[in-house]
Amino acid sequence: MNFNLNNLVVALSHAIDFMEIDFLGVVSNHSKRVAYIAMRTAEHAGLSRESLFDLATLAILHDNGIGAAFRTPRTGDGPDGNPPAPSNGFPAMEGAAAHCVAGEENLKGYPLLTGVRNIITYHHENWDGSGFFHLKGDEIPLMAQLIRIADLIELKGNLGGVDYEGKRQLYDYLERQTGTLFSKDLVDSFHETAAYPAFWLDLKDEFIRDALHRIAPQFAQEMSWSEIREVTKIFSRIIDSKSRFTRMHSQELSERAGRMGSFYGMSGEEIDELRIAADLHDIGKLAVSNSILDKEGKLGPQEIDVIQRHTYYTRVSLESIAGFERITEWAANHHEKLDGSGYPYRKPAAGLDFNSRLMACLDIYQALAEERPYRTALSHERTMEILRGMTAQGKIEAAIVEDLDRVFG
Ligand SMILES: [Fe+2]
Ligand SMILES: [Fe+2]
Ligand SMILES: [Fe+2]
Ligand SMILES: [Fe+2]
Repeated sequence: MNFNLNNLVVALSHAIDFMEIDFLGVVSNHSKRVAYIAMRTAEHAGLSRESLFDLATLAILHDNGIGAAFRTPRTGDGPDGNPPAPSNGFPAMEGAAAHCVAGEENLKGYPLLTGVRNIITYHHENWDGSGFFHLKGDEIPLMAQLIRIADLIELKGNLGGVDYEGKRQLYDYLERQTGTLFSKDLVDSFHETAAYPAFWLDLKDEFIRDALHRIAPQFAQEMSWSEIREVTKIFSRIIDSKSRFTRMHSQELSERAGRMGSFYGMSGEEIDELRIAADLHDIGKLAVSNSILDKEGKLGPQEIDVIQRHTYYTRVSLESIAGFERITEWAANHHEKLDGSGYPYRKPAAGLDFNSRLMACLDIYQALAEERPYRTALSHERTMEILRGMTAQGKIEAAIVEDLDRVFG
């Protein structure tokens, strides 16, 4: 089908920005704004359309490693053994080199048009060599420099509601840091783009999502579902890496969904769609705090309330992607139950198609087969007992449960 990869990434940027809820309490649109500023600055720095396309992806995903990095202790965890940057104003989550390394690792195999590499690894390098890996000047890849300057402008500038005084302070900051954090050329390019009043309006919270859609280069290309799956597979790694207890959850769910699809004789295309739904079904969990996901012991009612929001966020992330209509349903319905007791919509059986029901059964099967903070992984037999118990209560489809036994038993 004719598919625009950047539309997928821009839509999923919403989910990436959910991760900030965990740290900041609000979605600050950080990655969207960084992508916007980097691309606008890049236009003035003379990047090609293909490079801009890749820059959009990389800038949106520049902090994708934060989920993975923040399970590790925050001091001395950089590959160079350096402690995180001192308290120089940007949020603690950006202060550890581990998020650069984990972020690059997650993106391995992403089909970038220009084949650039290590942009995420080096997105915290400073022009004077004082960054995590001590690259200096032009040794730092240009796209990494662009993300660096956009990142710091975003973090400094409170750009959601920037005013005249805010701009003046930002310009002072850029002047002070020229030759230290940033090259003079890039600061000049930024000044050129910032001279347009629309630039500042586009950055506002209410406009940034549309603005990003507007300027992200449109390369619709003929892509098969299996090629699209190569990309969603990468997102499944980002999602899984958020918690050590789910480090293979979406990837294995996707594997199992593929096996069930073959068992039912689905077409190759439908199997790929089903696997994409499995890859992305828990993308909304990026918005759930690790203090809940990794909690030992039972969750309290307030924590359950928070965790149950994740499928709603999954729907919001996926529903704007053209061609993903069925995938959105299968992914976002995975906690609905046939007796209407599921979440977030309490959908009745009539609202749940076969693949939504299949996904619900598979998700429970997969979760029980994994270790959790409060229990060890369960055997196939024990898992089947629990699933049959839920069948007896009318919550999940009995026939599917028995088919799981046939395929995985
Ligand atoms: Fe970062
Ligand atoms: Fe950042
Ligand atoms: Fe889930
Ligand atoms: Fe799940």
